[in-house]
Formats: sequence, structure tokens, C-alpha cells
Amino acid sequence: MSEQTMRAVTVKEFGGPEALTVDRVARPEPLPTEVLVRVHAAGINPVDWKTRAGHGMAGLQTLPLILGWDVSGVVEEVGFGVTTLAPGDEVYAMPWFPRPAGGYAEFVTAPSRQFARKPASLSHVEAAALPLAALTAWQALVDTARVTGGQRVLVHAAAGGVGHLAVQFAKHLGAEVIATAREPRHAWLKELGADETIDYTRQRFEEATGQVDVVIDLIGAADGTDARSVAVARPGGLIVSIPGGVSDALAAAAGQAGVRTSPLLVEPDAAALTAIADLVDSGAVRVEVERTFPLEQAAEAHRLGETNRTRGKLVLEVAQ
Ligand SMILES: NC(=O)c1ccc[n+]([C@@H]2O[C@H](COP(=O)([O-])OP(=O)(O)OC[C@H]3O[C@@H](n4cnc5c(N)ncnc54)[C@H](OP(=O)(O)O)[C@@H]3O)[C@@H](O)[C@H]2O)c1
Repeated sequence: MSEQTMRAVTVKEFGGPEALTVDRVARPEPLPTEVLVRVHAAGINPVDWKTRAGHGMAGLQTLPLILGWDVSGVVEEVGFGVTTLAPGDEVYAMPWFPRPAGGYAEFVTAPSRQFARKPASLSHVEAAALPLAALTAWQALVDTARVTGGQRVLVHAAAGGVGHLAVQFAKHLGAEVIATAREPRHAWLKELGADETIDYTRQRFEEATGQVDVVIDLIGAADGTDARSVAVARPGGLIVSIPGGVSDALAAAAGQAGVRTSPLLVEPDAAALTAIADLVDSGAVRVEVERTFPLEQAAEAHRLGETNRTRGKLVLEVAQ
């Protein structure tokens, strides 16, 4: 065991934001085929605060836990057998998900092939905002719905981390994009490629737009958004239900209407991250970072995230 230690945000008991404490812990060492990455920035996702509170992926973790799945940093050391990365390489990833990855820390280790080259045009903070949200949007639109040009795609919670990337990926795939968000976000969402915007606080979305081929549902059962989405999906269309899987209410309504449904749990995929980096570097996709926090203020970042009003992403700056 290395004598070296590192700063990390740990959870010793599941609970509120105060459960996050900054500690010195042992620095991990890469096994064969793994890399040790010095983390410059760590993205924050709703699954982080859900898990911290004992929900989300808590059942798959052991305490004490270092939270965090999104990292951008620099390869410090490579384990035996690694041939595609070398010390000094700038990489980003969502390693290990849903197993613990320990992203809120100065170092992580993970299989080298879960990492992709960081988009060259982005800072580490911007790159760390991407992996989990971008892979979710990509796996929903590209791998699950197989969206093609001319299709109509409705994105719920379009202003959030996953949503603002889903709008851009759907547009890039040639779709007509309808986005739900509060009105102050509409001009920005149109810049990102939304063709129609709906303020869900003023209008029921199912009364504000015509039939769509695909619904990317980032809300789920709240306000009955999932089952209500059946009303806008064409027969044979698809609702990808992302937050909590396919609820009984959604399954029943969709079954009656001949609408398909799918749950989705994001998976590590370095090849997709490479494709996403190319899109970002080409200028076709951009990432919005609403605010950054130093690692020591992870609890403050969670408090803000849990208000459910984030435009784009929140990111922890780890490197000092
Ligand atoms: N299954 C998976 O693998 C997976 C992966 C990623 C995320 N998720 C889940 O998907 C959800 C979204 O994740 P995220 O990272 O995008 O969250 P986020 O960034 O925290 O989402 C915040 C956004 O949600 C919008 N919003 C809140 N309520 C809304 C509503 N009723 N209708 C439309 N927009 C609403 C807010 O916009 P306004 O202020 O404009 O309302 C805000 O911009 C979370 O529940 C997350 O846990 C699941």
C-alpha cells in the first residue's frame, strides 16, 4: 500500500449535504491495464446527491465512499499492459459507473479503455461536465432511439445537464427538436438548436406541440410527465424514460396507445466519448457550466444542484 495520500470528499454515513467531508485518504494505485489519473475537475450529477442521501446507486456502494463519476485530468501513471495511454495524456471519463469511481478526489484509477482523450478545445472544468450527461444523451438518442434525420424529438428538462446536450445531439442527427424548460432558458435553448420551446410551468406540454417520434424523458413520474408523454408520442414512437425506468403508469398508458418505452442506465463508453469529443472540437456541440466550486465546497454544490434549477452543469475544481 502506498504511503501517499490525497484529498477526497468522502461520505461516511448517507445523509444530507453535511455528510460530505474532506479527508486525506490513501492514494489509489493502478492495477495491470489501469491508469492512475490526476483529477483536475470532477463533474457533479443528480445521481451523486441521490446516492449521498442513500438512494440512487447507494445500494451498490460501501461506506466510507468517495462520490463522483465524472472526471477530467492527466494520466500520472499507467499499469502493466497499457499501450494506448501514457503519462501526461489529457483524458476524460465516467469510469466504473455504477460501481464506485471516487471522482471527488485528487486521483482515480480505472481501466485505461474507459478513458478517452479530453476534447482539445475544452478546459478540464468543461470536459468534466460532459461524460455522464453526454453519454446519457448519446445512449438515449443514438444507441436506443436511433434517431434519424427528419424525426421529431421532445426533450423534457432540456435546460439541465443531460437535456442541453440531448438538444444538441438530436439537432446534429437532423431531428426537429422540441424542448421543455422555463421561459428564461428559451433563447439559449434556441441557440443550441431547439426548434420549439415550451414553458412547462405555463402550458401543458401535450397541448403545446404535435406528435413526436421520440421523447427523451428526464423528468419521469413527477407531475405525471412520463405517462402524459404518451399523448404526444406517435403510435410506434418511443419514450426513453431516464430517471427511474418505466413506471407502471407509463407502461399501461403506452401499451394502450401502441407506444414503445425503454428504461436506460448510462454505461461507460470511451468510443462514444471520443465521438463526442470530436463533435465538441468541431464546434457542433458545446457544454454549459453554470458554476464551479472548489473540492472543499462539494456540500455547497450539492445544495445548489438539489434545487433542480441548474442550467447545464456544476463542476468541482480539484487541482490546486
Ligand atoms: N438513468 C440514467 O442513466 C441517468 C443518467 C443521467 C441523469 N439521470 C436522471 O435524469 C434526470 C436529469 O438529470 P440532469 O443531470 O439533466 O439534471 P439537472 O441538470 O439537475 O436538471 C436540472 C434542470 O431540470 C429542469 N427541470 C426541472 N423540472 C422540470 C420539469 N418539470 N420540466 C422540464 N424541466 C424541468 C430545470 O430547468 P428549469 O429551471 O427551466 O425548469 C433545470 O435546468 C435526473 O433525475 C437524473 O438523476 C439518469
